[in-house]
Amino acid sequence: MLNLAENCSFGSLAENIENFDLNKFNCINEDLNEFFKQDAIKYSKSLLGKTYAFVLDTDKKTIVCMFTVSNDSLKADSLPNSRKKKVNKDIPYNKQRKSYPAVLIGRLGVCSKFSNNGVGTQLMDFIKAWFIDPLNKTGCRFIVVDSYNTDNAINYYLKNGFSFLFSSEGQEKEYIGKCETEALKTRMMYFDLLSLSV
Ligand SMILES: CC(C)(COP(=O)(O)OP(=O)(O)OC[C@H]1O[C@@H](n2cnc3c(N)ncnc32)[C@H](O)[C@@H]1OP(=O)(O)O)[C@@H](O)C(=O)NCCC(=O)NCCS
Repeated sequence: MLNLAENCSFGSLAENIENFDLNKFNCINEDLNEFFKQDAIKYSKSLLGKTYAFVLDTDKKTIVCMFTVSNDSLKADSLPNSRKKKVNKDIPYNKQRKSYPAVLIGRLGVCSKFSNNGVGTQLMDFIKAWFIDPLNKTGCRFIVVDSYNTDNAINYYLKNGFSFLFSSEGQEKEYIGKCETEALKTRMMYFDLLSLSV
């Protein structure tokens, strides 16, 4: 099994762009492939989201997996009561707060050559550890994501400890003002980083 920590190097896409073979990166999701190839650098330059990659040590042009992160918040105020209770747990002065600091995983993909082999799970463990690192400049309590509403993506996030922000699709549609009959393309999910430090 490929081990990201032992067999790969990590860096931001912007720093090493000319060294990467972006055209060979394929995570079987055309929207994501296109974003990483065409938009990731623009996002980074506009300070809208930073993209990072793990590349093979034996062939530094080969990207194994990539993800894009940006600052966000988890808005606890408008959640259903049961979820609000869960999110507010272990938060001091929670009655005075409407939202909590979070990092948004805007994009994430594992190249299909390396998928279904635990790489995605290692990547998520890395991201979680990164945001609870004591050297982080800001407080970040949650990881949030708008996961593609596909079995592949939803199973991946559930397997990695994420929960749905709204327990049913109906509740989520109501929250975002979508009509009942329209399909949800994404599901809002979150992970509480505090769960790693207790
Ligand atoms: C989702 C993705 C990141 C998973 O990466 P991966 O390296 O295959 O993940 P892992 O091998 O660590 O698998 C972790 C879990 O993900 C789920 N999963 C992975 N591939 C799956 C598939 N084809 N079908 C259903 N579930 C799948 C499973 O729950 C799996 O756990 P298991 O192996 O115990 O069944 C990868 O398939 C991918 O890049 N998909 C396309 C882009 C995408 O959907 N990104 C996430 C949304 S932003």
